[in-house]
Amino acid sequence: MTVLDAGCGSGAQAEWLLDQGADVIGVDLSAGMIQQTERRCAGRGKFFVADLSTPLPLEPRSVDGVTCSLALHYLRDWSSALGSFARALRPGGWAVLSLDHPFAPPLATQQGGYFDTELVSDTWQKGHVQVTQHFWRRPLSATVDAFADAGFVVERIAEPQPSAEALARFPEELGAVVGVPNFIVYRLRLPADIEQQR
Ligand SMILES: C[S@@+](CC[C@H](N)C(=O)[O-])C[C@H]1O[C@@H](n2cnc3c(N)ncnc32)[C@H](O)[C@@H]1O
Repeated sequence: MTVLDAGCGSGAQAEWLLDQGADVIGVDLSAGMIQQTERRCAGRGKFFVADLSTPLPLEPRSVDGVTCSLALHYLRDWSSALGSFARALRPGGWAVLSLDHPFAPPLATQQGGYFDTELVSDTWQKGHVQVTQHFWRRPLSATVDAFADAGFVVERIAEPQPSAEALARFPEELGAVVGVPNFIVYRLRLPADIEQQR
């Protein structure tokens, strides 16, 4: 099948999809990330720079599935991205999207309450490098409403926890998040009769 990997980053997921036999189209805002993905995927797949906040230049009804891992939360407004996914998908197609969990413990930068859609930030230390990243948090209803507005239905929700292998490798970092909502993954479906519904 043909899969769009939206916000493909350095291409780990695109590489996995290619290894499963998929034809992969990947887009990312960052030219550096696209270069990393092309290097990692070594001539397989088709990757280009694109901004998910503007309509993606993809053939309508040309892909079977969309993956978008931890990228949508950089956008305040999801209508363009989700609209692009719905247009690019064949009727009956799927989308698997991961996000920060809406019930995760509030970040220190969060000013509003649970029901607010708000720009927050988090600071990560990786070795000697410190990065402050800004992203949008929103309540569950705003998330599911945006999916529905684009024509998607929610089929499954996963709330992943660290695997035993990951816990054994990173006991300090990951021990603290066991039992705590952290990430959430949605599997969405575009109804097969979406054309009649529109
Ligand atoms: C946390 S990384 C996730 C990368 C990859 N999906 C993964 O799971 O390994 C988020 C990615 O989203 C990309 N991104 C952020 N805003 C974007 C936008 N407006 N359009 C396209 N990509 C964007 C970033 O450049 C980054 O590569």
